[in-house]
Amino acid sequence: MFNVVKVKDYEEASDKAFEVMKEFIKPGKVLGLATGSTPLGLYQRMVKDHKENGTSYKDIKSFNLDEYVGLPISHPESYYAFMHRNLFDHIDIMEENAHVPSGLGEDLEGQAKHYDEMIDNDPVDIQLLGIGSDGHIAFNEPGTPFDSPTHVTDLAESTIKDNCRFFDNDISKVPTQAVTQGIGTIMKAKNILLIATGANKAKAVKDMIDGPVDEACPASILQKHPNVTIIVDEAAASLL
Ligand code: GLP
Repeated sequence: MFNVVKVKDYEEASDKAFEVMKEFIKPGKVLGLATGSTPLGLYQRMVKDHKENGTSYKDIKSFNLDEYVGLPISHPESYYAFMHRNLFDHIDIMEENAHVPSGLGEDLEGQAKHYDEMIDNDPVDIQLLGIGSDGHIAFNEPGTPFDSPTHVTDLAESTIKDNCRFFDNDISKVPTQAVTQGIGTIMKAKNILLIATGANKAKAVKDMIDGPVDEACPASILQKHPNVTIIVDEAAASLL
């Protein structure tokens, strides 16, 4: 069931997202976190709230959605580095409670399985999501089975192009694989908060909300989730 909240622009979307997220920034809660440019405004508000109001993350756990394969965590575009730079380093979450899947190691599939076991032990209270221009969530590209667990995946050509801007606009520098929470994993979260802003998300938003539930649009599975809030700005909502 979708609760679609239409707002004017990115700033308003971030304000609204913070309002929703704030209810879950409480001891014992488990947050599902995301990367990309979309959640940055929300993270700034979480940091500001921590600094100004003392809201604490000491008893909060988090699980990130995904990570590039083969990128050292010291690389600024690794999702590990992204999360530290934009959120973890500025709040009081404990390092051991802030989980980001690892894209390094000999047994990525085994590590992925372990990641799902950790999530099963600490179910996610609210999962934050962006959406790819092709309708992907996390790195679950079109065609990914709806019941997929955390797994290693190839990135779609369009995703590699979209993410090129983070790698000096040099397509050869963009990793071609990632470890991602599966759609099955994401669907286990008790609540979902998806933010979509900008005209290049309009088609994906339309397919997610009004299209058939079809693996061609991974986000369309959210129609089957009981608690989804979708925050869209005017540009992303233009085809609704
Ligand atoms: C990447 C991430 C997704 C994110 C998407 C959109 O592919 N794996 O989790 O939703 O980018 O990114 P942006 O928010 O920058 O548009």
